[in-house]
Amino acid sequence: MNPVDIAEPLHSRWSPSVFDDHHVLDDQQVTRLLEAAQWAPSAGNRQPWRYLVAVRGSATHDVLVRHLSRGNSGWVPRASAVLISVAVLAEEGEEPGDPTIPAHDVGQASAHLTLQARAMGLHAHQFAGFDHDGVAAALGVPPHARVVAAIAVGRRGDPVDVPERDAERDHRVRRRRPLEETAFTRWGEAWPGLAPSGPTVAPQPGRED
Ligand SMILES: Cc1cc2nc3c(=O)[nH]c(=O)nc-3n(C[C@H](O)[C@H](O)[C@H](O)COP(=O)(O)O)c2cc1C
Repeated sequence: MNPVDIAEPLHSRWSPSVFDDHHVLDDQQVTRLLEAAQWAPSAGNRQPWRYLVAVRGSATHDVLVRHLSRGNSGWVPRASAVLISVAVLAEEGEEPGDPTIPAHDVGQASAHLTLQARAMGLHAHQFAGFDHDGVAAALGVPPHARVVAAIAVGRRGDPVDVPERDAERDHRVRRRRPLEETAFTRWGEAWPGLAPSGPTVAPQPGRED
């Protein structure tokens, strides 16, 4: 079990690195994931997110796989689909402005998508380790938009099917900074309403599915 008493599907969410490379996400499931992002809140309801849909075996997926970092090249290609998030930073033809709010909104939409995956009995693992500019150029992302990150989605695979290096990743202890170092009334001064610090390490394995 994970250590904190937060609601599902937050509670059972984690980022596996061993995906089942036989599992297929159908178009309806991918659409449902995108709908979860679609209904995220955003500043001025501008919805600055876009997703490049890379279903395993598709041409878009081939492009992504060619641009993965070394550390991600073992596990990402096995996932059923990858949604590459893109932030629109300005109107077409205009210079990109401050990316803070669009980046916030895209991250939030991706969080919704990630949690929808969990609610559907799937797993999602976000990642940023790929050549963003290379992907943007290969997939026609315009200058007023920026590739942000990506979300690998699928069903958890059997660790015996992958190299030890990738299997080992699924057994890393999950750690978090204590809330006293996160929630302030003034910078550096912990909010006094916090309960005595709870566990910040997830016991092993905490990954029943
Ligand atoms: C924006 C972002 C970028 C990330 N980049 C990578 C990555 O390139 N490779 C990777 O294996 N995991 C990546 N992760 C996953 C994090 O390492 C993971 O979410 C974190 O260790 C917490 O683990 P948990 O998701 O299981 O709680 C990324 C996550 C986010 C949100």
